[in-house]
Amino acid sequence: MRRVLVLNGVNLGRLGTREPLVYGSTTHAELADTCIATGRELGLAVEVRQTDDEAELISWVHEAADERTPVVLNSAAWSHYSYGLRDACSQLTAPLVEVHLSQTHAREQFRHHSVISAVATATLTGLGVEGYRAALRYLASTDLA
Ligand code: DQA
Repeated sequence: MRRVLVLNGVNLGRLGTREPLVYGSTTHAELADTCIATGRELGLAVEVRQTDDEAELISWVHEAADERTPVVLNSAAWSHYSYGLRDACSQLTAPLVEVHLSQTHAREQFRHHSVISAVATATLTGLGVEGYRAALRYLASTDLA
């Protein structure tokens, strides 16, 4: 089965209680279950990880680069300013789908730009949990995954 890493960054472990009007009421554990179940339906072995440590996230991207693993990435606030994370993402050779739960372009100015988008295969913004499912459907449909 094709392996996919779903990587979630800073503060996403607090989903469910964190600003539910913006991010919804789904917890990170429920999001992970949804991704794993969707992956199973699509024939993908999905592994979901979350961290509040930027270095740890970068090490997971390095792992994906070394193993040529496709990645679904919500790098949360780091998306807006982490050149270190962007440089790590540039090393990926399998597809990288950037996901944001909220419609970042309709929010504060600092959220309008992602330093990750230019090195991502695609970006899905504002679809909530469905964005992760759509990203996995894309990865299941492409030969590159
Ligand atoms: C987010 C949007 C970011 O601006 C924010 O910092 C997050 C979550 C989203 O999923 O909508 O933490 O990536």
